[in-house]
Amino acid sequence: MTSPKPIRKAVFPVAGLGTRFLPATKAIPKEMLPIIDRPLIQYAVDEAREAGIEQLIFVTGRGKTAIVEHFDTAFELEATMNERDKALDVLEPTRIQPGNLVTVRQQVPLGLGHAIWCARVIVGDEPFAIFLPDELMIASKGSTGCMKQMVEAYDRVGGNLISVLEVPEEEVSSYGVIAPGKRDGALTEVTGLVEKPKRADAPSNLIISGRYILQPEVMRVLETQGKGAGGEVQLTDAMAQMIGQQPFHAVTFAGKRYDCGSKTGFVEATLAVALEREDMAHEVRAMAKRLLGEC
Ligand code: UTP
Repeated sequence: MTSPKPIRKAVFPVAGLGTRFLPATKAIPKEMLPIIDRPLIQYAVDEAREAGIEQLIFVTGRGKTAIVEHFDTAFELEATMNERDKALDVLEPTRIQPGNLVTVRQQVPLGLGHAIWCARVIVGDEPFAIFLPDELMIASKGSTGCMKQMVEAYDRVGGNLISVLEVPEEEVSSYGVIAPGKRDGALTEVTGLVEKPKRADAPSNLIISGRYILQPEVMRVLETQGKGAGGEVQLTDAMAQMIGQQPFHAVTFAGKRYDCGSKTGFVEATLAVALEREDMAHEVRAMAKRLLGEC
């Protein structure tokens, strides 16, 4: 196989309403909620850069400007920090090469599939990555990030890839689920996709997590696609149409996924990240033990 076109662009759909986090998300985008000292969107952008992605496309909506500001130069802040001899390296991850951050608007939140379609002109005719920033993907020790694992798989097989993980069978009906074909280590051929199936109808317990590499043809499928589950334009339905037309694989992520779109997932992620951080693990562990002892 000739090497597939490189993945240079990533779409970050951040136009959702974040209703599960109201009132916190009334004026602050969900993607700006911090896990310790980095907003969720920063974790996703760091993961994209590690995977070699250059251009970041944010699909935003009303009230989401803070996300773009976060990646802008903050002249007064930096000048004042300089005057006070404060190190600026803490801001380094927020710096984006000029021209490499593009925003498009999704005027009405009609669903994830519709949000991706809104980026079609900027994506153009090349394969691209998608990150759902409220799914925090933390790689196992010694492994690379989720998207880098996916890009490595893509370099071998090309086509379309989604990240998956195993969940207990009773949980499948909350997610997009794959019908698995041949397996080769972490790589599984995808023969079908179904959004939020009933437990009895689920073709596996491998759920789609929030990372994708898709071919640009998906935009043409989305163009004419009607609403699906929950009355929203579903990305899963569009991807299902691509199966059989183009190679389609799933990569089982070597790491953990935290659903930061839910309150308990957010708390779990905060604790898990704190317990991994050298600067605070010791203190947080002692604090958690004390709190649990009080329950
Ligand atoms: P969610 O299903 O988590 O929806 O979207 P949400 O609106 O963000 O949150 P809740 O359910 O109301 O609490 C998954 C991802 O898709 C984006 C969201 O911003 C999030 O990153 N999204 C969803 C859009 O960009 N547009 C949409 O129309 C729907």
